Amino acid sequence: MERDFLSIDDLSAEELAGLLDLAAKAKAQPEDYAGRLRGKSVAMIFEKPSTRTRVSFEIAIAQLGAHPVPLSSTELQLGRGETIEDTGRVLSRYVDAIVLRTFEQERLEVLARAATVPVVNALSDFEHPCQCLADLLTVQERRGGTAGRTLVYLGDGNNVTHSLLLGCAKASMHIRVATPPGFEPIPQVVHRAEEIAESSGGSVRVLNDPIEACRGADVLYTDVWASMGKESEAEERALVFPAYQIDQRKVELAQPDVMVLHCLPAHRGQEITSEVIDGPHSAVWDQAENRMHTQKALLLWLLGAF
Ligand code: CP
Ligand code: NVA
Repeated sequence: MERDFLSIDDLSAEELAGLLDLAAKAKAQPEDYAGRLRGKSVAMIFEKPSTRTRVSFEIAIAQLGAHPVPLSSTELQLGRGETIEDTGRVLSRYVDAIVLRTFEQERLEVLARAATVPVVNALSDFEHPCQCLADLLTVQERRGGTAGRTLVYLGDGNNVTHSLLLGCAKASMHIRVATPPGFEPIPQVVHRAEEIAESSGGSVRVLNDPIEACRGADVLYTDVWASMGKESEAEERALVFPAYQIDQRKVELAQPDVMVLHCLPAHRGQEITSEVIDGPHSAVWDQAENRMHTQKALLLWLLGAF
């Protein structure tokens, strides 16, 4: 039975650690992995826009010697009513893995059941597990490990937050999430993260006070206030989120060597100031680069070629 990667929770703690180590090796010695997937193909279907995910997957696949097939739903028969199941069944006859960026998580689950090749979640409304792999690698690189480090997320309790809750707990980190009331992450995800943290030695806290959350943070993280699909709420959200902006004052509440992360794209002046994203604590460009290295490791692992 092939493995899928629909949630960061699809990996055990050991598998996650192994995957991050493989990504670090693929980053340090890319030539050792060049051509490992020669003769293979990977389809990538995008039902939402993308810069980083699309390009980092395409380059990772090409550098591994495989053939990337980027597809937008509008140019597929999917856009004319063919089902995701039938699309998955057919693509499985041509390619060795399918990457999908979509809206409902259920669509990924349906695709994964119909496809006979591994399916990867390249972002859904519920999770962004590929992003979380890059985030954890960036923490590991800059802090010499993940265990015991504290990551503080400020802003909307969204897909990125859900993957961070599960991923940080699995990587034995302490995670604190501060959101405006009414924008908390989904309770089931928080409970699952708490359960994981209990066995990993990490911890999970969800609160509404951004100042309390920031104290002593090793990592400060934020994301857009209105995710893809929520654009119509942008104006009303802009009224409740300003207290959660990562600005210089929040940086000063954290550890002196705090590292600032953002999955990007960023809205400067909203969830993060230009001073911080362009400043000495920012690691966002390394974080974006790490998408490519972690996705190489993910594909090598899913296709049994590591
Ligand atoms: N962080 C991220 O997934 O960026 P894109 O939307 O550009 O792929
Ligand atoms: N939460 C954001 C992440 C973008 C990479 C969104 O879903 O739009």
